[in-house]
Amino acid sequence: MKIIGLVGSPHGPKGSTARLTRLVLEGAESRGAQTETVYLTGKNVLLCKACDTCHKKGKCPQDDEFEKIKDKILNADGVVIASPNYIFNVSAQMKAFMDRCCGVIHCLSFEGKYGASVVTSGGGDEKAVADYLNYFLIVTGIKPVGSVWATMGNITGETYPEDIRKAAFDLGEKLVLSWKDKVKDSDVEKRIDNFKERMRSLMLWRKQEWPYEYRYWKDHRGLE
Ligand SMILES: Cc1cc2nc3c(=O)[nH]c(=O)nc-3n(C[C@H](O)[C@H](O)[C@H](O)COP(=O)(O)O)c2cc1C
Repeated sequence: MKIIGLVGSPHGPKGSTARLTRLVLEGAESRGAQTETVYLTGKNVLLCKACDTCHKKGKCPQDDEFEKIKDKILNADGVVIASPNYIFNVSAQMKAFMDRCCGVIHCLSFEGKYGASVVTSGGGDEKAVADYLNYFLIVTGIKPVGSVWATMGNITGETYPEDIRKAAFDLGEKLVLSWKDKVKDSDVEKRIDNFKERMRSLMLWRKQEWPYEYRYWKDHRGLE
């Protein structure tokens, strides 16, 4: 299994979010996964300009690394998506990536992959951020298997406490095992199916304006 870790913190590999993500990836590696981590620093993925080109042509015209990162995910089997809590939500760096995935979301282009989410905060409120990250996974077609988070204000020293280390490692293992066994969680399946129906209607409504996406749905899902 190939897994991409996607870390949305300007602190990059040295940050708390990256260090917690690494523990998840170590759990996945212990079950045989190959992993690669991409750091969204705010420079490699620029803001969406709302030009609609992705809907019309399937690719973003901006000269940055978004398409390369998208291709890495398309070629992987799983994603670990990670963000610090910035004002009760994901970081702007992560949100920029999410907005650039508008075309991916219309096509649920990452369908069939498995995922997990990671959040760190200074003082708490991680669950809402993790739920949002998991919902993002769902609308791209990825099945989330769980989340792990840490409140840095409660942690002393350089390393994570044992309970958080274990939760992160276990999550990485669960991600690989879920993918291997093609686990189906009925709630996740229902949420993906419901979202797919919404996108199907959107494609029928916008078929003239967004030829790439309409063609994608015809080719992949037999849309008439
Ligand atoms: C712009 C900004 C907004 C933040 N907002 C919150 C917040 O609302 N709640 C919170 O508990 N921590 C907040 N924090 C703290 C970070 O979530 C925390 O330090 C996190 O662990 C940083 O992860 P990193 O080292 O991977 O960047 C904020 C930090 C920054 C820079």
